[in-house]
Amino acid sequence: MAERQKLYEGKAKILYATEDPAVLVTYFKDDATAFNAQKRGSIANKGRINNAVSTHLFKLLEAQGIPTHWIESPNEREMLVKPVTIVPLEVVVRNVAAGSLCRQTGLALGTPLTPSLVEFYYKNDDLGDPLLTCDRIRAMGIASDETVGQLQQLALQINQLLTSFFNGCNITLVDFKLEFGTLTDGTLVLADEISPDTCRLWNQNETDEARRVMDKDRFRQDLGDVESGYQQVLDRILAHTN
Ligand code: TMP
Ligand code: ASP
Repeated sequence: MAERQKLYEGKAKILYATEDPAVLVTYFKDDATAFNAQKRGSIANKGRINNAVSTHLFKLLEAQGIPTHWIESPNEREMLVKPVTIVPLEVVVRNVAAGSLCRQTGLALGTPLTPSLVEFYYKNDDLGDPLLTCDRIRAMGIASDETVGQLQQLALQINQLLTSFFNGCNITLVDFKLEFGTLTDGTLVLADEISPDTCRLWNQNETDEARRVMDKDRFRQDLGDVESGYQQVLDRILAHTN
């Protein structure tokens, strides 16, 4: 087989071209970074688990009418996706206070947020992914007000679907980050991944603050048992959908 052309290598994934210009390959790595790559490491089997989790969630969302870049997942490490132009925004939805929200506002960890928050961060590592406002997004020419409105609506719809799915797995969807892109015809679609790297997921069967964490916070905060947290998320998702 001819060597594939690497189009882009990010912190957790590699993007390759295929012979078909309408299809790209995303390869999920075990590399893990946090705090804008100041902390680096590796989580055994993370790539395999994140590919499987993302595949399940993209399929679930597609079935509920949310357009995504996902085409199919031909093996444990790879996902075939449609090429998109990424909107340089990280769209974060929060249902429960955690992470940077607690650090920046003083809200106590675990405070329920009703209605859920939708936040936009500038996807720019050099600037440290700063929190934006709608006025800043417009001033920077990143997206029109109409697109920002669409992103907010899609993010809240996705939140409803994922929250209800994870509740069925006895997991609380605390918060998560989404990325969107546009297809060649301009259609806005969900892209990137949805996995324990990009979500905070709390085990509803545990009350202990450290033990309940099933996501990348185990790596960020050196809580130990990182791989088993990720694996348990996948096991529960598979048990739920079978
Ligand atoms: P935060 O509380 O650190 O702002 O993170 C909010 C959510 O976004 C959390 O689920 C983790 C996810 N996230 C990413 O996927 N990538 C990132 O670079 C950051 C900072 C957060
Ligand atoms: N993915 C981000 C990084 O490596 C941050 C994070 O997830 O905490 O920098």
